Amino acid sequence: MSDQSSPKPARRPRYSGTHPRQFNEKYKELNAGRYTDEVAKIVASGKTPAGTHRPVLLNEVLHVLRPKPGQLVADATLGFGGHAQELLLAVQPGGKLFGVDLDPIELPKTEVRLRALDVPAKAIVLRRSNYAGLTKWLAQQAPDGVDMVLADLGCSSMQLDNPERGFGYKVDGPLDMRMNPEHGQSAAALLDKLTDIQLAKIFRDYSDEPHAHALAQAILQAHHKHPLTTKSLADLVNATARRLPQAIGDDPATSVPRVFQALRIAVNDEFAALEAFLASVPYVLKPGGRVAVISFHSGEDRRVKQAFKQGLKDGVYASIAPDIITPGAEERHANPRSKSAKMRWAVRS
Ligand SMILES: C[S@@+](CC[C@H](N)C(=O)[O-])C[C@H]1O[C@@H](n2cnc3c(N)ncnc32)[C@H](O)[C@@H]1O
Repeated sequence: MSDQSSPKPARRPRYSGTHPRQFNEKYKELNAGRYTDEVAKIVASGKTPAGTHRPVLLNEVLHVLRPKPGQLVADATLGFGGHAQELLLAVQPGGKLFGVDLDPIELPKTEVRLRALDVPAKAIVLRRSNYAGLTKWLAQQAPDGVDMVLADLGCSSMQLDNPERGFGYKVDGPLDMRMNPEHGQSAAALLDKLTDIQLAKIFRDYSDEPHAHALAQAILQAHHKHPLTTKSLADLVNATARRLPQAIGDDPATSVPRVFQALRIAVNDEFAALEAFLASVPYVLKPGGRVAVISFHSGEDRRVKQAFKQGLKDGVYASIAPDIITPGAEERHANPRSKSAKMRWAVRS
């Protein structure tokens, strides 16, 4: 029986020409399960289909974490669930996945995908939360500890590609950048409050920006006249950096990603969360349990390296990665977003 009062299904957004350009027009990519051939073509061309994320260093993660049937896995950064899915399947039968992510928009979609796998419902335990508190939650869920923990830092392709989330600058959008848009203050709200000295410190501390103060002054001056969006911020930083004297070998175009990275770290207080995670993670691992962390810039990698080295010195880790693990040429070519990935691991004593 048809329900006369039910609303008409929403029409998908129309686009002119044969190739959708806007994120929300890419309905085939956003419905990857239905349009598998089209999505496979996009992946083969080295691009990430809209609304998805390709797990980086996947084979290396499986090699380092060595999942086996019956084991307990924790994924601190579920994202699209690419790593989580493989780890979850590898610990069947009898194993469990505990997963968290800050993102209230993507987590429910990831949960649907994971629950569609042929594994018992009780094998998947997910929670929307900050990985700074992962170990406290895990201590309740798995009092004897877990066999492995993975953290794949930064933001997902779904966040980066959706202009509404404000992480990217190829397409204009609000200057938001919150992993959890229901909580905390957006990048625009942060700019409303900061002085140029405070903003310059963020650029220096979080992305080693050489023109930190000049850029901070230009950004705040423009933002106070007319609130900045992602694209107007990127254009302003680009134009300002080009007018400034550059050190030999410096490219003014690199100031744009550095400014976006620094603002994102500040908005999400990423280093505080990472330090809390690194300090507590050994204590949720069983003896011989393994942790792997994938980072994407030097500020993250430095913290991971120091925490693992200190853990080895203190005897909480029995061994740590002698060096970073990076994607091979094939992966870097197939997925250019993997280029800056660096993985380190440690084994609980
Ligand atoms: C690079 S993606 C992870 C991708 C995932 N490994 C996959 O295979 O799809 C990073 C994820 O970490 C989440 N995230 C970032 N900071 C977080 C935090 N402090 N606590 C929990 N999740 C966080 C982001 O929301 C994003 O979904």
